[in-house]
Amino acid sequence: MSIFPDDKKVKPQEISLEEIQELLGDCKRCPLHESRNNIVFGKGNPHARIMIIGEAPGKNEDLQGEPFVGKAGKELDEYLHDINLSLEDVYIANVLKCRPPENRNPQVFEITSCAPYLREQIRSIWPDVIVTLGNFASKFVLKTDAGITALRGKVYPVGHFKVVPMFHPAAAIYDRNKVRAIKEDFKMLSTLLEDERKLDE
Ligand code: URA
Repeated sequence: MSIFPDDKKVKPQEISLEEIQELLGDCKRCPLHESRNNIVFGKGNPHARIMIIGEAPGKNEDLQGEPFVGKAGKELDEYLHDINLSLEDVYIANVLKCRPPENRNPQVFEITSCAPYLREQIRSIWPDVIVTLGNFASKFVLKTDAGITALRGKVYPVGHFKVVPMFHPAAAIYDRNKVRAIKEDFKMLSTLLEDERKLDE
């Protein structure tokens, strides 16, 4: 399994997030540009060891041009805070950079149009750990048809990266039974980060 066809384990040549954003420009590669207010590129620390990948901007994200600023973002902030992480420790982006109307599911053409930019963001940040939130991000990164319920709870080595799929925090807003699973997974993430830190020493 690899996000990149050549299964590179070595950090590729640096391309900055600014350069990627410039290449994206005022993107009109899929029809989502017609209804968007803002492209939501990403936020956080460009040198983070942890990258978090969500699905697509919602209403608030589209209005503010930043990922995870609405209700799901508040949930995510709390889960991060619980394991002593902040925005300084992570970089956050989505599979899609524009909001699908009425928050419908991303469509194949939208994902394939947007994917090269997310791949370049992953290459640029070159995190040790990628947390994928929900089905779309997890399927994209793990190149699998398996659903998030089957995938969560484990760490998947993918080339250089360790991938940790989790339920999307928005799903936990509607189904509080998912909160326990998400908290367990963040704890697992915390242990993984601790192990990685020890290896670095
Ligand atoms: N849900 C996502 O997947 N991404 C966001 O940025 C906001 C909500």
